Amino acid sequence: MFFLDEAVRLDLDQPIHEPNPYTTDRSQPHTGIAASTGGMNAARLQRPIHNRYARELHKKVDTQRHASQKEAIVATGLTKWFGEGDARMTAVNNVDFVAYFGEILFVVGPSGSGKTTLLSIISGILRPNAGKVTVDGADIWEFNNDRLADFRLTKVGFVFQDYHLFPRLTTAENIAIPLILRQRNWNESIAEAKKYVDIVGLTGRSEILPVKLSGGEQQRVAIARAIIGSPEILILDEPTASLDGDTGRMIIAFIKEKILNQNRCIVIVTHDARINEYADRIIHMEDGRITGLDKGTE
Ligand SMILES: Nc1ncnc2c1ncn2[C@@H]1O[C@H](COP(=O)(O)OP(=O)(O)OP(=O)(O)O)[C@@H](O)[C@H]1O
Ligand SMILES: [Mg+2]
Repeated sequence: MFFLDEAVRLDLDQPIHEPNPYTTDRSQPHTGIAASTGGMNAARLQRPIHNRYARELHKKVDTQRHASQKEAIVATGLTKWFGEGDARMTAVNNVDFVAYFGEILFVVGPSGSGKTTLLSIISGILRPNAGKVTVDGADIWEFNNDRLADFRLTKVGFVFQDYHLFPRLTTAENIAIPLILRQRNWNESIAEAKKYVDIVGLTGRSEILPVKLSGGEQQRVAIARAIIGSPEILILDEPTASLDGDTGRMIIAFIKEKILNQNRCIVIVTHDARINEYADRIIHMEDGRITGLDKGTE
């Protein structure tokens, strides 16, 4: 079917055109993790105090809460810049963090602090200029493009800040995409998707095109599409931004109660303090760096 093929190319399999910093140009210490034993350590020594403080705090909270939990995502020395020369802008600057299976980790920070860029790197969508992301033990930026596409399809569910729904697909078809891409039968996939239409509170709207849905309704379709394939890693970028307080809390409570389990890790970017009670830990970002880490309120 043409539009599904288009869907794969346009959205779920975002091309990664930038050179792989781990397999090319290993001669330059700052361009890749393989070459970075010297370069990265030198860069680390120059980190500001608040980042060292963040690491200490991180360790402390980690030992308190996660002695027995398995690491889901380990990010080390992640750096991503856009543009070159005088126009270069570093969006994520030497970031380290760990997310564990069985937890909901929030990432908060001002607009432009690098939250979306960071999530895109850890979910295999955007290649970093330096650093390493290990998901469930595998170094994802060492994968070839096929394996990376498979990782994005089977291991990660991503709710984009601006939804990324397909305008020519109905609500149920949008939600069914991950199943159809996994070669599940069309009718079965749509039937399964309709259950998720109900779960996110859109009963009766299965056949509607996104243009006829409100922003909050589109956001719920995006959430349903991210969770239908039962991904181990669920990443949500501002999932409640267009929802009223009650609907936002209801969806995050549903994710915490029904989707989170010991084999799953959920990372949520949010400005929405109304949902802080659902966080196990909260990472604070500023100017591309992690500046603090809190236990969530329980
Ligand atoms: N594709 C891009 N090209 C150039 N600059 C970019 C690109 N993507 C992000 N940036 C820049 O990187 C910085 C971090 O952007 P990012 O989208 O990660 O911030 P954010 O914390 O998610 O912000 P918001 O809360 O507004 O969504 C910003 O200054 C942004 O302008
Ligand atoms: Mg963002």
